[in-house]
Amino acid sequence: MSDVLEFAGVTVVRGRKTLLDGVDWQVKEGERWVVLGPNGAGKTTLLQIAGARMHPTRGMAGILDETMGKVDVFELRPRIGLASAALANQIPEQEQVLNVVVTASYGVTGRWREQYDKMDERRAFRLLDAWGMSTFMNRTFATLSEGERKRVQIARALMSDPELLLLDEPGAGLDLAGREDLVERLSELAKDEDAPALVLVTHHLEEVPPGFTHALLLREGGVVAQGPIAEVLTEDNLSTAFDMPLSLKHDDGRYTAVAKRA
Ligand SMILES: Nc1ncnc2c1ncn2[C@@H]1O[C@H](COP(=O)(O)OP(=O)(O)OP(=O)(O)O)[C@@H](O)[C@H]1O
Ligand SMILES: [Mg+2]
Repeated sequence: MSDVLEFAGVTVVRGRKTLLDGVDWQVKEGERWVVLGPNGAGKTTLLQIAGARMHPTRGMAGILDETMGKVDVFELRPRIGLASAALANQIPEQEQVLNVVVTASYGVTGRWREQYDKMDERRAFRLLDAWGMSTFMNRTFATLSEGERKRVQIARALMSDPELLLLDEPGAGLDLAGREDLVERLSELAKDEDAPALVLVTHHLEEVPPGFTHALLLREGGVVAQGPIAEVLTEDNLSTAFDMPLSLKHDDGRYTAVAKRA
């Protein structure tokens, strides 16, 4: 198995603030990671580096057997699928859903070339279909509900057939049914041997899809624990990460956590 991500001492400093502090992390082919931690822990910063959108201030970030700083990021980025709120904000509201997905193969948002390969359109349609969104293909992005937008963004992130898929809080803003639908779909994706390596960022244990194999817990830019999911998602580790005594339940592959009563 080759390394999808190999971070050694990855540190990000902005002004006086250390956003990430000496993070060592390895993600291998076939692994499905969940990254958990409170607001401001550095999760999005970590994904920005993993997605070749940001350079570490110090340390080494290996991505798909390339090293940040020594590789043309414009060649690396198409090999990585990324779905995040920041990226969604760049999608023009009037963009048609099919185009939102198709344009990903060119690493742009906003359709700027009229001649796309029919093959690309067919692939975009198949991805929308797989995520239950093909009947929406002619709608504009602006008219979609939050849950529908999330599914279109994931289809978009998969368009370039990436070797690594990064999802930053795909469950944010979804209602209960929407969340459960997403968890189920991500669980299916996790079980698909042909799917890329996955990294999912969330605050909510309820959003951890069954089938995910590894977890990384962050707090204030540092790693609290990482490794096989069952070893990492413990009451002790989670209580440390969220700085609050938590009571954890694990049932049928799903996790829930609530504050421990005194
Ligand atoms: N350019 C910057 N200058 C100073 N601080 C920054 C900068 N960018 C981010 N930060 C801070 O770094 C910390 C980590 O941010 P990050 O977005 O990675 O957190 P997060 O774990 O994704 O949080 P959330 O769960 O709220 O999305 C935050 O406290 C944020 O305010
Ligand atoms: Mg974030």
